[in-house]
Formats: sequence, structure tokens, C-alpha cells
Amino acid sequence: MSFLQVQNIHHTYFTKASATTALSDISLTVEEGEFVSLLGPSGCGKTTLLSIISSLLKPTEGTVLLENKPVTTAKNQIGYMLQQDYLFPWKTIEENILIGLKLSRQLTPKTKAATLNLLNQIGLSEVEKQLPRQLSGGMRQRVALVRTLATEPKLLMLDEPFSALDYQTKLKLEDLVSKILTDFGKTAILVTHDIGEAIAMSDRVFLLSPSPGRIYKTFTMPEELRKASPFEARNHELFQSIFQTIWKELESLESEKE
Ligand SMILES: Nc1ncnc2c1ncn2[C@@H]1O[C@H](COP(=O)(O)OP(=O)(O)OP(=O)(O)O)[C@@H](O)[C@H]1O
Ligand SMILES: [Mg+2]
Repeated sequence: MSFLQVQNIHHTYFTKASATTALSDISLTVEEGEFVSLLGPSGCGKTTLLSIISSLLKPTEGTVLLENKPVTTAKNQIGYMLQQDYLFPWKTIEENILIGLKLSRQLTPKTKAATLNLLNQIGLSEVEKQLPRQLSGGMRQRVALVRTLATEPKLLMLDEPFSALDYQTKLKLEDLVSKILTDFGKTAILVTHDIGEAIAMSDRVFLLSPSPGRIYKTFTMPEELRKASPFEARNHELFQSIFQTIWKELESLESEKE
């Protein structure tokens, strides 16, 4: 049995004046420890699918199972990292990274020490007592990652977590996030517009087509790229041809729209 099973998802948003079918017949599975990406044009339903998988949104049809149980019963096993870090501006970095543990009543000397250790590992031990506004965007996203990992979620949802960062910071964070998730054996789903990022970070890439969103193609990355760090993968000789293939598929989707 797969770790995550997404079965026959359809979703229609209803408003008073209209109905928008955002997703149609989405089925996919993700194995434990796997890193997959959802790639596709704006409005194709990536965020909708992520919200459904994490049970923030109930689909019109279909089911999501995490370890064979409905995901609605496993909400606290899912962690998020979003485009904006949503750190509490009036709380220190230490208070921010411990908040999930506190709210879920898991804050003990042991979990606190493990979380502070992770902050140290990620190169931010000296900022514990500072406020988020004293940190750069890249540092804040690293804090957000520590906060997400603190409660030890089984599944991580990353909705464009690097898109607000400058290119160099983004490349560094891709490597750091990838290494930490591998070290901890975490399963993750990344939403991105960035083909290169999807190739460099993922084991598999799901390309979605729009209106309504469907899984148009699935690309499995070659072993050489999966083993490599994202930065090495971007410089690997296989990278360009995969980039071209996915680029062409995306272009054909865009031209269908016109
Ligand atoms: N709350 C809502 N009510 C009505 N329609 C919605 C709602 N949220 C999203 N939609 C519609 O559903 C479709 C998919 O939206 P979604 O936000 O999932 O796309 P996306 O792939 O994440 O886009 P982007 O890349 O721009 O973030 C779009 O047509 C959007 O207009
Ligand atoms: Mg989105």
C-alpha cells in the first residue's frame, strides 16, 4: 500500500453566480520518503489539490488516504511551508519555532532541545532571541522550516516556499531543505511554477493541465538526478534535456488555452 493515496478527486467551487471545476479525476500515489512536485500553469488547481490532500478543503468527490486512513483523521501529521513564512512578528524566533509543540501539548525539555538543535543545524542558533523582522527573507524561511519540522509531521506540504526569495538564496535553501528532508526520511509534496526547481528537487514530477486541472503527465527523474543534491542536479548533463521535454509539454498546454 502506498503511503499517500489520492483517489478520483474532483473539485468544483460553487459561488452564488457560478461553478468552477478546479480539478477533475485526479489520482496519484506517493511512497514514504518520496519527494514529488506538482507543476503547472497558474490556475490549474495546484493549491486546491494541496488543500484537499491536507484536508483543509473537502473535495466534491474522491478520497485521500494517508497510511490507509482518511486524511481527515491525520490532520496533525501534516506540516506546511508556504510562500510567506507567517511567523508571528511579536514573538522571538525561539517562541515561533516552539509554537506548534506548545499548541499540540508536546512541548517537553526533550522536544524543545531537539527543535533548538535543528535551528542550530540550519545555521541560525545565534538568532533565537531575535524577532522575525530582524532576519532576512531566506533566514525567515529557514525558521519556518524548523517550525514545520518541530512537531515531526509525516507529510510535508511545500507551496512555493522559495518563490519570494532571490535566486542565490533559493538555490541554497533548495539544497538545505532537500538534505534535511532526506536525513529525516520525510515525504514531501512541492507546488512550484519553476521547472528547474521541480526537476532538481523531486523524485517524480506531476504536470497538471488546466481547466479543469488534470494530471497531464508524470515524469520520473533518473536515478543520477535523484541521488544528487538540487544544486548538483541543476548542473548535471541530464538536466537540460529533461528541462526541454517538460518545457515543451508546458508550452503545448499554454498554447491549447489560446
Ligand atoms: N475559493 C475559491 N472560489 C472559487 N474559485 C476558486 C477558489 N479558489 C480557487 N478557485 C479557482 O480554481 C482554479 C484553481 O485555483 P488554484 O488556486 O488551485 O490554482 P493554482 O494552480 O494554485 O494557481 P497559482 O499557480 O496561480 O497559485 C482557478 O480557476 C481558481 O480561479
Ligand atoms: Mg497556488
